[in-house]
Amino acid sequence: MGSIYGQKYTELEDTMRSIVDEIGSIREIALSRSGFDPIEHISYRIKTEESMLDKIKRKGLPLTTESALEAIHDAVGIRVVCAFINDIYAVRDHLLSLKNCEVIEEKDYIRHAKENGYRSYHMIVKVNGSIYVEIQLRTISQDTWAALEHHIHYKKDKTDMDKLISAELKRCADELASTDLSMQTIRDMIEKNRNEQEQAG
Ligand code: GTP
Ligand code: MG
Repeated sequence: MGSIYGQKYTELEDTMRSIVDEIGSIREIALSRSGFDPIEHISYRIKTEESMLDKIKRKGLPLTTESALEAIHDAVGIRVVCAFINDIYAVRDHLLSLKNCEVIEEKDYIRHAKENGYRSYHMIVKVNGSIYVEIQLRTISQDTWAALEHHIHYKKDKTDMDKLISAELKRCADELASTDLSMQTIRDMIEKNRNEQEQAG
């Protein structure tokens, strides 16, 4: 049996690589301008055959390449982990300015956290008019929380204990968010101080 991606796998890989390279150049530009690397790390994947088939079935779609590439928009996924909140919006603005990327959807789960406490900035872009790419932008703290929450896989609030656990998870997310704000403030202070010293010296 052929792959659910049909003949498109190489195109998916090439598209992913081109966006990853573009993000690499965002990094270099920012580093040379400000001396700060806005990106802590980046990871990317093409959704495995198995999880794509699962997702198509879950959504009640026909098991076709069209479902995998047109109805579902995260065959290609890129996760960009930034040190600071402001960096997320800077990377996003750069991505918005790319001529070959059309923004299909944006979800700001940073300004509007999900009920469980999940925070990230999600974008779906269409590259070169054909391939959809999901880009998730997060801080290190947000990434840590999401990884733990995924690991625990806590979804159902049936018993009082479940509710307590969910509430604790949410409390951790909110505390991390508050720390992210403090870290951003510290970074802004460092930058302000540096600029003032440069002007004085
Ligand atoms: P589908 O595209 O159908 O999967 O749903 P959606 O468009 O409603 O998804 P959304 O943009 O909200 O989330 C897409 C991805 O973000 C998921 O596949 C996860 O990687 C991540 N994500 C979203 N919500 C959570 C969450 O509560 N916890 C964790 N750990 N990850 C999440
Ligand atoms: Mg989605």
